Parts: sequence; structure tokens; C-alpha cells
Amino acid sequence: MYYKKNLTKLEEMDGLAPQVMKALLNLLHSNQEIATDNARSTPGQDMNSHLDSTTIPNLEAVKARQKATWESGDFGQIARTIESVAEEFMARQPLNAGSRVLDVACGTGNLAVLAARRGCVVSGIDIAGNLIGQARARAAAEGLPIDFKEGDVEALPFADGQFDLVVSTFGVMFAPRPNVAAAELLRVTRPGGQVALANWTPEGFLGNMFQVFKAHLPPPPTGVPSAMGWGDEATVRSRLHGFADVRLTRHIALMRYPFPPAETVEFFRQYYGPTQWAFASLGVSAQAALRRDLVELQTIYNTARTPGTTEVPAEYLEVVAVRS
Ligand SMILES: C[S@@+](CC[C@H](N)C(=O)[O-])C[C@H]1O[C@@H](n2cnc3c(N)ncnc32)[C@H](O)[C@@H]1O
Repeated sequence: MYYKKNLTKLEEMDGLAPQVMKALLNLLHSNQEIATDNARSTPGQDMNSHLDSTTIPNLEAVKARQKATWESGDFGQIARTIESVAEEFMARQPLNAGSRVLDVACGTGNLAVLAARRGCVVSGIDIAGNLIGQARARAAAEGLPIDFKEGDVEALPFADGQFDLVVSTFGVMFAPRPNVAAAELLRVTRPGGQVALANWTPEGFLGNMFQVFKAHLPPPPTGVPSAMGWGDEATVRSRLHGFADVRLTRHIALMRYPFPPAETVEFFRQYYGPTQWAFASLGVSAQAALRRDLVELQTIYNTARTPGTTEVPAEYLEVVAVRS
């Protein structure tokens, strides 16, 4: 299988599943801090990390396509399955009453809602209008005064230094020009303030899921780097060079579904925009091949002990950067 080439964990799983499980559980419990010169880094892995608007032809078309992708399906259904990940992530961030917090690429507002419940003054922004609609309804239902806006990570409609804390789970990583996004995060954070991101790693479950898409789909638009560059230590450090201090930690997000791997793939096909678009852009037999490989991936990663359920440990890189 093509995606195994990139993933030592999966290679080991062929005959050593208990050892892999042990390693994953160790990682889950230790959340080991990664040293500056971490040997797992692959410098220059994301060869496109320097790209800007001049190197993406048809930038507007790329953005329109991304907006349409995330507005398709219903990411709100997926967001509910990662609320516990949002809670774990936010428990590690400084949420003081009165702090000004921005949830970037907020989707339905998983992080924004948690910050507002703690008395923070919260804004949220996302490119997908339907998800911002859900986020507003959710905040209204709880009586939380969150300012949700539809907009782009690469052109944040906020003043310089406006926020004490800028957060994003699995969102900023999808902007097509990472250096433009990084510059915007820096700009809107006050001196001494903090940016905290959760980014799927290239070696983890989501990194492999996107490798499956890549193997079945036409190449992405010219000049758009892999979203997984935000999960690579060396790439992240190069993008956040404007920050005084950058701390990186690997974590595991346990993604649980009350149905078996094949139905989990169907759940993603129905609700997760990128999966829905991948299927929609293929003919019938190519869809069957994509489905087969996605089910195989979910099955390999499945650690659920209850028959008929799926539990996938998905690795992410937590990035905490302090602005000078
Ligand atoms: C995987 S979802 C994560 C949503 C949310 N942060 C969460 O954890 O539930 C990715 C989100 O990034 C948003 N997004 C992608 N590109 C964006 C951009 N350029 N500007 C703003 N939002 C963007 C999508 O609309 C989507 O809501």
C-alpha cells in the first residue's frame, strides 16, 4: 500500500500491533515536549513553504474552491466528534477572564465557545459562511457574546496587536499561503501575547488520509503547499521566525465513532468537505478504489475494543508561539 511507505508506525503495525499500541499510549500519556533540535524534524520537507501570492496562479480560484470545499458536507457533525480534543487543547492555554481571544478558522466555534465560557472576550473567523452560521447559533443558544465573522486567515479583519491569545485547531493549516497566514497571526497578537495551534502531522492518521486522497486525485493547484507542513517541526519554526519563543509538543487526538471503519468512511464522505469533494471528483470505479483504501486506513488505525465501533489515535503537533 502506497501510504505505508511514509509511515513507520503503520509498517510496524503489520506484525507488531501491541508495540505500536504501547508507543501510541505512551505518547498519549507523556505528551512529550520536542527539543529545538529534534531529530524527528525533516528540514525543508515542505519545499513550498516560501510561496506567496506571486507563486500561486489563480489565487482567487484556489480560495473559492477551498471555501466551497469547507462549505460542503457539514463540518459541524465532525466538529462534535472532536469537542474533547478542543477541551484538552484549551485546558493547556492561558484563558483569563477578560483576555481577548481569537479562534482562527473556527468552524462551528469549538474553541471560541470554551474561551467565552471562561469569561474571555472572544472573536472567531472562518471562510465557510455556513459554519459561521452554526457557530453564531451555538453561541446564541448559550448566551455567549462571541463576535463571529466570515473571513480569511490570510487577511484578518482585526487591528494590529488586538489579541492576547490567538488559537486554531486544524484550521490555519489549510490556508493556501502559510507564510501570509503566519504573518497575520503575528500581526494581530499583542507583544507578549501567544499563538497556539493544533496541526495534524504528516506521519499521523490525518496525514495518511490526505496521502490517500493524493494517490487517487489529480494534483493540487500549482503552488499550494501541503497543509501537513504545519505539522512538521522544522517547517513550523521557519514560518514562525518572527516569534520570540516557539514550543512544539506532539499529542494524540482520540477520534471515536459509534460504528465500524467502513461506516466511519461514509460518515466522512457525507460530512467532511475534503472527503466529499474527493469522492465527487471521481468516477464510479475510482470512488470504489478510494473507499477501499480509506476503509483499509481506518481499519489499520482502529484501536477500538468494542466490536462495531471505531477509535482512531490521530497525532497532532501543538505549536505555542510567544510574540516578542
Ligand atoms: C478541519 S476544520 C476545523 C474547524 C475548527 N477549528 C474545529 O476545530 O472544529 C478547518 C476549518 O478551516 C477553515 N478554513 C480553511 N481555510 C480557511 C481560510 N483561508 N480562512 C479561514 N478559514 C479557513 C474551514 O472553513 C474549516 O472550518
